[in-house]
Amino acid sequence: MIDVHSHILPQMDDGSTSVQQSIEMLEESALQGVDIIAATPHYYPEDEYPDEFLERRETSWIALAKAVSQSGKKLPPVITGAEVAFFDGISRSEQMRKLCYSGTNIILVEMPCATWSKSVVKEILDMPYTLDLVPVIAHIDRYMMYQKRELVKQLVKEGVIIQANASFFLRKDSSDKAVKMLKKGLIHLLGSDCHNMTSRPPNISGAAEVIKSRLGIAGLEYLRESERNVFGL
Ligand SMILES: [Fe+2]
Repeated sequence: MIDVHSHILPQMDDGSTSVQQSIEMLEESALQGVDIIAATPHYYPEDEYPDEFLERRETSWIALAKAVSQSGKKLPPVITGAEVAFFDGISRSEQMRKLCYSGTNIILVEMPCATWSKSVVKEILDMPYTLDLVPVIAHIDRYMMYQKRELVKQLVKEGVIIQANASFFLRKDSSDKAVKMLKKGLIHLLGSDCHNMTSRPPNISGAAEVIKSRLGIAGLEYLRESERNVFGL
């Protein structure tokens, strides 16, 4: 499986604090059956320019890659991306191309934790047309309490990709809802959103178990197929 959302790069954001911690997170991810992990550190447009962020990300990625190679361990490859905080004008910012998952036109967007206004929705729907980018909404589970399910259906219908966190499937109070959304085709990608090895560790396998037990192997196959479709693998 691909873990499409993680904060595994060392000293990039509020995620991994060291190369050692990143290696432990990679080891745990490998044990959980993750084949590829996308490093998606937070990008806040008010804090830095994309080029500054990319420079920091490159340094962090190289440090991790070196440590992985020195460890001699077989660990999942880390592809780069970003968790881009939504901002007014995101659909018109050419700079956003730089923040896509490497080698793709797919961008992970962290949406406002509030009911999305018409203009917010319009910007997301505009992105394929104005920038030729495919938006992935990060951790949809965070916003469901503010949106109508119909809106998510509309976004999906219009080609927006939806990512859910593994914890959505794992939490007792949300597991049913997560399974229902997956069944209805309202979740395309799974991410751990792991930040460390303690409070927010890699947890993809737990979610995979829930999906398998509730929907059978077909549920997991649907997710894999969906990963392949989105990333063109
Ligand atoms: Fe995140």
